[in-house]
Amino acid sequence: MSDSLELFPASARISPAGRLQIGGCDATRLAEEFGTPLYVLDYATIREQAARAQDAFRSRWQSVLVLYATKAYFAPFLARLYRQWGLGLDVTSEAEIVIARHAGFDPNLIYVHGNNKTREEIRAALDTGISHFVIDNFEDVSNLEALASAMTPPRAVNCLVRLSPNIDAHTHRYMTTGVADSKFGLGVGNGMAERAALEILQAPHLRLVGLHFHIGSQVFDTDALREALDAVLDVAADWRAKFNFDFRELNIGGGWGVAYHETQTTLDVEAFAENTTSALRAGLGARSLNEDLKLIVEPGRGLIARAGVALYRVGSVKMIPGVRSYVAIDGGIGDNVRPALYSARYNAFLANRMNEPATQEYAIAGRYCEQGDVLIEHAALPETRVGDLLVMPVAGAYQLPMASNYNLIPRPAVVLVQDGNARLVRRRETVEDMLACDLDV
Ligand code: LLP
Repeated sequence: MSDSLELFPASARISPAGRLQIGGCDATRLAEEFGTPLYVLDYATIREQAARAQDAFRSRWQSVLVLYATKAYFAPFLARLYRQWGLGLDVTSEAEIVIARHAGFDPNLIYVHGNNKTREEIRAALDTGISHFVIDNFEDVSNLEALASAMTPPRAVNCLVRLSPNIDAHTHRYMTTGVADSKFGLGVGNGMAERAALEILQAPHLRLVGLHFHIGSQVFDTDALREALDAVLDVAADWRAKFNFDFRELNIGGGWGVAYHETQTTLDVEAFAENTTSALRAGLGARSLNEDLKLIVEPGRGLIARAGVALYRVGSVKMIPGVRSYVAIDGGIGDNVRPALYSARYNAFLANRMNEPATQEYAIAGRYCEQGDVLIEHAALPETRVGDLLVMPVAGAYQLPMASNYNLIPRPAVVLVQDGNARLVRRRETVEDMLACDLDV
């Protein structure tokens, strides 16, 4: 129903005939032209979210870098847009670096993350001219020193230590990354972070420039984020006293919570920026730390999630007497693993009948051979028929990047919509694409 359009992209409208429109394009036409499942991304929302994050922080802190966390969703067109708009990137793999390089990204705006960076990835990053790395373990230190010193001429690498401050972000267990028992980061309390800092200081080609924390994703608990900030400033003060640490950069991660469902409220970026920068100012002052600090944020979901919707065709409606009714769609766990993996809750609507009242309850079943392939357990919809076009909003983040070819089903196409135009930015995968790596020996 129209009262939940707030979960949809900024340009979403309902036509007089009750059809969903995004970026001035009719969703039913898009589905006919490009097929389903189809991911539709709204240019206006992508632009707006990036600008809001930049403005919110830049208006409150003198030196700010907004990195986009590419793991949320990445593609060449998006890299080009973010480059034009002056964002940086948080990357984790060679392919992400390749996309950034082809888009002409300034390597100084790229930060390399990962809890097991391979030597090949580190080399690819150095070859691209990237000079900022987030240190997650001791092997990062030795590998980076070895590879940076082997470059001709040898390179200087800027290191931020990822701290594990032992603070619970109160999100799903699989998205909680700042507690003591986490594969990410180096513990503050157990001395691991300090040991890594000392190793960096002793490495001739490494420079210790800053600190990083990211306590989780889909975080709504801003108290936890503030506690983490305080814990990290304590570390900065402690290291300054112990070994004259020169604190130049603070990367406070991403993880900003986004509403997928009417029971949730998206974290407001202006309020978050206000609280964070005032807490930072006070925290630096209280510890007599230098305010001349580059503040880095690295949201993924907050910039891209609401820009996307997923369109699916209904292929079967199965009413099990006395049990419940299943609406089966032509996508599912293969393009959206989030309900199965995190019990993520979504809403669904009929894009061809947006104004009709939701009178029925259905389970939205995917087409994959998995009983757990149910995207929504309880979806309120008008009476649904075969051929209806089901739309699920907030589909822009962590759906396609986590997609699989389970059952050897090709992954969806993606279109970017703007002012009545739809541009295919990823063609639908074909059977040949999927089989291209198999060797029939
Ligand atoms: N920085 C670091 C170091 C991260 O690990 C992440 C996400 C981000 C930034 C961006 O977080 P965001 O603002 O997008 O929440 N697959 C899960 C989310 C995993 C997040 C991984 N790291 C999901 O579907 O919800």
